[in-house]
Amino acid sequence: MKILITGGAGYIGSVLTLKLLVAGHEVTVLDNFMFRQNSLADCCCWDSFSVIRGDCRDEGLMRKLMAAADVIIPLAAMVGAPLCNNDKAGTKTINQDAVEMLCRLASHQQRVIMPVTNSGYGIGEAEKFCTEETPLRPISLYGVTKVEAEKAVLARENSITFRLATVFGMSPRMRMDLLVNDFVYRAANDRAVLIFEGYFKRNYIHIRDVARVFVFAIDNFEAMKGKPYNVGLDDANLSKLELCAEIKKLLPDFVYLEAPIGEDPDKRDYIVSNARLAKTGFKPEWPLERGIRELIKGYTILRNSVYSNV
Ligand SMILES: NC(=O)c1ccc[n+]([C@@H]2O[C@H](COP(=O)([O-])OP(=O)(O)OC[C@H]3O[C@@H](n4cnc5c(N)ncnc54)[C@H](O)[C@@H]3O)[C@@H](O)[C@H]2O)c1
Repeated sequence: MKILITGGAGYIGSVLTLKLLVAGHEVTVLDNFMFRQNSLADCCCWDSFSVIRGDCRDEGLMRKLMAAADVIIPLAAMVGAPLCNNDKAGTKTINQDAVEMLCRLASHQQRVIMPVTNSGYGIGEAEKFCTEETPLRPISLYGVTKVEAEKAVLARENSITFRLATVFGMSPRMRMDLLVNDFVYRAANDRAVLIFEGYFKRNYIHIRDVARVFVFAIDNFEAMKGKPYNVGLDDANLSKLELCAEIKKLLPDFVYLEAPIGEDPDKRDYIVSNARLAKTGFKPEWPLERGIRELIKGYTILRNSVYSNV
């Protein structure tokens, strides 16, 4: 297949692009490299890899790149609530308008597979078991723009969306702002975390399982198309305190304390069912413990220590 990935040099895209090349696909990445990342350096040796530095909002460029694509994977986005709040206009135009434009430009036959966050499920509804029928009610601008983009994608033929749990694991364009990645970094370096509202439950999925589910969807497109799918680990619907206990099993010196006062501004507290995806035959291969072991190795290499002597 000829595959176009926007934002393919990001945290997820950098792992996915190489996986698609290894699977035998021809991959074109469009990215503006806003983090000055060199995460696709290992892909350049592939003849089946092309890369364009540009903006996913550029209609002329997108029209040209899309003309050759069988599958389009829009990953380009301002990702996460804090980044989005820093540039609200950019967030709306990149996360939502550019995806709506892409849907307008795509032919009926072209396949679109897009990830969205599941973070709008169950806000303020403790212990709620969420399926794909549960309404997404995002509160952040990030969540709102992603949900609007999902509506545009699912309104067309030949589309699939993946509602991803919080992703964890190593990537050549690392993100340490994601919950598991952040806690393991603190556990490995500071040996301590202070937790607000530690009983709030979240769900998680490893980055390599995210890449695997995209490849799986390309291979099983006809059976899967036309629907959103929750993508998470069934046995990792864990509270923040339970997550810390998992980390402590591998890093016994880790100390975590729950603050008796204070609130987490992130109000997510929900349990997600991944039954729809499981019915397609997809099985995750990366339990939490395996990913934590991977992160501990990764953080032996990576250090956030520009202004420190050690
Ligand atoms: N990581 C998660 O936990 C998670 C969960 C759910 C959904 N997602 C979705 O997955 C996608 C990728 O997320 P990520 O975690 O890899 O984030 P990321 O920030 O690492 O990747 C985003 C990429 O888009 C590029 N980009 C930004 N603006 C662009 C523009 N105008 N034109 C071209 N490229 C642009 C960036 O350079 C970057 O490479 C996003 O759509 C995100 O909403 C991620």
